[in-house]
Amino acid sequence: MLRLTINGKLHDTGNASPTMTLLEYIRSIPNLTGTKEGCAEGDCGACTVVRVANNKFQAVNSCLLQLGQVGASEIITVEGIKTINGGELSPIQECLAGGGGTQCGFCTPGFVMALFALGQSAEEKGDWVIHDALAGNLCRCTGYRPIVDAARVGCMKNISYERHAIEAPPYKYRKENQTFYMPKSLNELVSLREAVKGAMLLSGGTDLGLSISKDRVVPENVIYTGHVFELREIVETKGELIVGAAVTYTEALEYIKRLFPSFEELIRRIGSRQIRNLGTIGGNIGNASPIGDTLPCLISLDASLTLASAEGEREVPIEDYFVGYRETCLKSNEVIKNIKIPTLLDNQMFRTYKVSKRYDQDISSVIGAYRLTIKNSRITNARVAYGGLAPRPCRAKKTELAMERIGLDEDEFVELSKQISSDFQPISDHRASAKYRTKIAANLLIRLYRDLFGSENELEVVKV
Ligand SMILES: Cc1cc2nc3c(=O)[nH]c(=O)nc-3n(C[C@H](O)[C@H](O)[C@H](O)COP(=O)(O)OP(=O)(O)OC[C@H]3O[C@@H](n4cnc5c(N)ncnc54)[C@H](O)[C@@H]3O)c2cc1C
Ligand code: FES
Ligand code: FES
Repeated sequence: MLRLTINGKLHDTGNASPTMTLLEYIRSIPNLTGTKEGCAEGDCGACTVVRVANNKFQAVNSCLLQLGQVGASEIITVEGIKTINGGELSPIQECLAGGGGTQCGFCTPGFVMALFALGQSAEEKGDWVIHDALAGNLCRCTGYRPIVDAARVGCMKNISYERHAIEAPPYKYRKENQTFYMPKSLNELVSLREAVKGAMLLSGGTDLGLSISKDRVVPENVIYTGHVFELREIVETKGELIVGAAVTYTEALEYIKRLFPSFEELIRRIGSRQIRNLGTIGGNIGNASPIGDTLPCLISLDASLTLASAEGEREVPIEDYFVGYRETCLKSNEVIKNIKIPTLLDNQMFRTYKVSKRYDQDISSVIGAYRLTIKNSRITNARVAYGGLAPRPCRAKKTELAMERIGLDEDEFVELSKQISSDFQPISDHRASAKYRTKIAANLLIRLYRDLFGSENELEVVKV
């Protein structure tokens, strides 16, 4: 049996499939049909609900969450805000209604929930933060201005909310021929990985959730990593940041912001808040896409992975983990336990750039990541990695060598940029042509020079 609270009321999922989406489950409850399905793939935000975890109110896409993932969770839907606010509309609802910010019945519930989550947070709610909070909510027909105006006032106040005690989720949840496993320790996880062959290994579900919501896959066995203590840890040592594979982007951000500010900027462009509240770096690596945003960064930063199985643990440099198009060296009985990222030395600099058609909520055409070690005004070591230029994310080794031979001079970087094609021969696809990808990769080297060594006024990044 699986239990969760929805709008403060305890629900037992009864006979529901453990891989039913939270959206479908909520909408099956009488009078809870305010949460809508727009795209069923995490893009539009119509299905946004709020999950209360560690006293934080997080907007999440209910179309991607499987029921098994939300055992013991506290969920608030658009209907619940008024209930928990003593029968009154909340400040953001008042402002949206009063300021002409309500639109159609599909997008509005999602906007309300995204802004309700923002209103409950302790962040400074400047315009940039408001736009960030709204990046995962699309309206296909009108404008966002009255919504942003409503947020400027309505998100400044929060409402009080009483947490609900709820028992920890069980070890497994079985319905008919489906079993959803919820191990709590690494030992339990690797034993299951050994015993339940072919099970779906699920973390945040922002990649795998689409197989349920779009492809209607009904997996027999799912092993969920979200309760495994060792995978949920984030540890900072003197020389490393160790991020558990099931730590979400949102949870990792404060550490990454302090240690690798440019990486933090890139992570803030992964999907939307709804996606980052669920998605994990471990899942990005597990998915092994050639355009996974964190992968070139981790390669450039010389990160390594701890892979665990019932036989023990082994450490693999992340650049050796990817062996071909979406192929990795992970064995079928292994899991990624954590990612170890060496912190920067005083004479090291790191920058990463994502190029995509839209600024927010878009998949990259090209990602470039650069870690440079500087001594006596020379680059003594360069680690340059790209995504989107080859079947797997990988280093530009010839460019690295050439970089170590040039001075810190823009003309020399311009010359260097012309030889990027000696490292990569990208393909054309619906996101970008081979020629465009090569041009971007080259231009990013010039941008890197201007960003690190050029005069401040030369580089203007336009955020639309
Ligand atoms: C709307 C939307 C926008 C997105 N935008 C971006 C974007 O801008 N940039 C980007 O890079 N990605 C993006 N993604 C993809 C996705 O969010 C990321 O890849 C995310 O990091 C996946 O993490 P997850 O925890 O959700 O993984 P899951 O979906 O749970 O799993 C992904 C894969 O990793 C494997 N896996 C998970 N945990 C482990 C583990 N511990 N050990 C071994 N394998 C494991 C799974 O088996 C699966 O194969 C987007 C997705 C959506 C739906
Ligand atoms: S239905 Fe579009 S994000 Fe969930
Ligand atoms: S999608 Fe709702 S008004 Fe545009």
